[in-house]
Amino acid sequence: MFKFLFRKDADVNNKIIEIDKNSLPKHVAIIMDGNGRWASEKRLPRIAGHREGMQTVKKVTRFASNLGIKVLTLYAFSTENWKRPKEEVDFLMKLPSDFLNSFLPELIEKNVKVKVIGNIHELPEHTLNALEEAVLKTEKNSGLILNFALNYGSRDEIKQAVQHISKQCLEGSLLVDNITEDLISKTLMTKNIPDPELVIRTSGELRISNFLLWQIAYSELIFSDVYWPEFNEVHFTDAIINYQNRTRRFGGI
Ligand code: IPE
Ligand code: IPE
Ligand code: MG
Repeated sequence: MFKFLFRKDADVNNKIIEIDKNSLPKHVAIIMDGNGRWASEKRLPRIAGHREGMQTVKKVTRFASNLGIKVLTLYAFSTENWKRPKEEVDFLMKLPSDFLNSFLPELIEKNVKVKVIGNIHELPEHTLNALEEAVLKTEKNSGLILNFALNYGSRDEIKQAVQHISKQCLEGSLLVDNITEDLISKTLMTKNIPDPELVIRTSGELRISNFLLWQIAYSELIFSDVYWPEFNEVHFTDAIINYQNRTRRFGGI
């Protein structure tokens, strides 16, 4: 065990020095996928994968905070995930309070600011209470923004923005010609958060699954074959180095 930890630490340190600290992505968004398959391969119930995935959330949060990344958005529960069996959904709804019970003191100590995007008012009360407490207690922090996408769906987010803008037009407080891309961005749940430069999806699936569709127009995408519970600092470092070696043209030459 110690040997393994030591080796991994050495691997991370050797790799981390390859990261150019001057061109870090400000916002990294992660589709945390593969908990269920990780567990199934170990003949464990799917929820064991979610529990282990929570440890990965702690790991990547510490890593992002230490590295100096400004925003880490984690896709934790989609508007489509309600389709799962009730026992699994119930377990997933308990995870935020379990996570925050054990991790909130460290988040506060690390100056991390917790945010949530998604329809949080549709979450069970105990889940919402835990989240609201974390948001409130970290409100004034100025370090990493740890942004959880919970009961989040990008189409739903865009639909709500369209409704909001339409109402303003109908009331006469906004002219249709004054609807700009910037206004749309500011009407989304991610208002005040810059678009992610880097999106990582684990588990080998090559899709976006209704995540930040508007915001990722020019994001760099990295798909890792690793299941989320196994994703670690070395994989995260690799993703950042891969991102830093890309040429971002934004339509130019
Ligand atoms: C990601 O892991 C966690 C959530 C979507 C809540 P999955 O539960 O989707 O794991 P797989 O994709 O079934 O392996
Ligand atoms: C995406 O994973 C949602 C989250 C990671 C929360 P899913 O496992 O729900 O996505 P699909 O069903 O494979 O597209
Ligand atoms: Mg999945």
